[in-house]
Amino acid sequence: MVLAIESSCDETAAAVYSSTRGVLSNNLFSQINLHAQYGGVVPEIASRSHIEKINLIIEQALEVADVKLADIDTIAVTQRPGLPGSLLIGVCFAKALAGSLNKKIIGVNHLEGHAFSACIENAIPFPFICLTASGGHTALYYVKAFGDYEIIGQTTDDAAGEAFDKVAKLIGLPYPGGPEIEKLAHQVGFEDFFKYPRLKDTVSLDFSFSGLKTAVLYDLIKKNLYSLHDKKFLAHGDRELQQKVSSSLLVCIGDIFERILDRALKRYPDVTAIAFVGGVACNKYLKRRLENTATKHKKAFYFPPPKYCTDNAAMIAFVANYKAEQNNYSDLSMDIY
Ligand code: KG4
Ligand code: ZN
Repeated sequence: MVLAIESSCDETAAAVYSSTRGVLSNNLFSQINLHAQYGGVVPEIASRSHIEKINLIIEQALEVADVKLADIDTIAVTQRPGLPGSLLIGVCFAKALAGSLNKKIIGVNHLEGHAFSACIENAIPFPFICLTASGGHTALYYVKAFGDYEIIGQTTDDAAGEAFDKVAKLIGLPYPGGPEIEKLAHQVGFEDFFKYPRLKDTVSLDFSFSGLKTAVLYDLIKKNLYSLHDKKFLAHGDRELQQKVSSSLLVCIGDIFERILDRALKRYPDVTAIAFVGGVACNKYLKRRLENTATKHKKAFYFPPPKYCTDNAAMIAFVANYKAEQNNYSDLSMDIY
């Protein structure tokens, strides 16, 4: 029985996982409302909120799972990567719990959590390719077995979720931008109005999104819709423009994802399946695009439900469970990275 804690960014999360019964609870407090007015996560506010909520969320997770601390064998915690202050809250709490109750402890890589999140509810056959796209990361993994994976491509600058969030901020949409952009793009039928630039490189499996964000900005400036001097969007409330930018951006990112996945599948023909995970994998349009690519290559396509796409502790518990089975424990000297 694993109790997992996740506090790497702006969600305080705890989950209980049983090796025989699966996920027994998956509780979290999202800080989105605390950061929304700043258009992104403010590290100091995030750390303070984690301190306030961590006790409560762990108690809730134990209660929902109907287990006591005494029933827990292993405390798992996200150890890297993340905001240092936020990670420290979870890791210090986990170490204190494990030390005082004499439990085993396992430090988990947040990205490994995302990479295996589609396995929580599906027995995905190995090897598979996993596209992780979130607010902090965008990477392609070749997954050989539980805990055995290699990065075959990653973003050289911004993450995909970051591109959604930054463009949303440019055109006066709230944080986080991804869900809002999907909603507006849906309203105009996912049409490519502005034809933003795609990746020029035709070989690499790496992503790049910061040029795309700049292209959107320069297109708005050219149309006299953005003042670089005042850093201000000049067409506030122009729903039609927001819809057109959102739709063009989403189609462009869909094209980029599809192209890179297509390349990866040609390079790794032995894979049996594709998994699409991370906060951006909540996006139904992108899921459709990637599923089409997978089908074209006769590969199965998997994605987790939204509760396991965005940051959560169930995916951390799931990884800790197989690490425990592999006898791959940490100890109380572990630190954050
Ligand atoms: O995995 P996550 O909760 O946190 C990180 O580890 O970063 O991902 C959050 C990111 C945000 O950038 C958000 O805009 C994006 O996921 N996101 C979406 C959607 N829902 C959340 N992006 C596109 N479409 C969505 N429906
Ligand atoms: Zn994440």
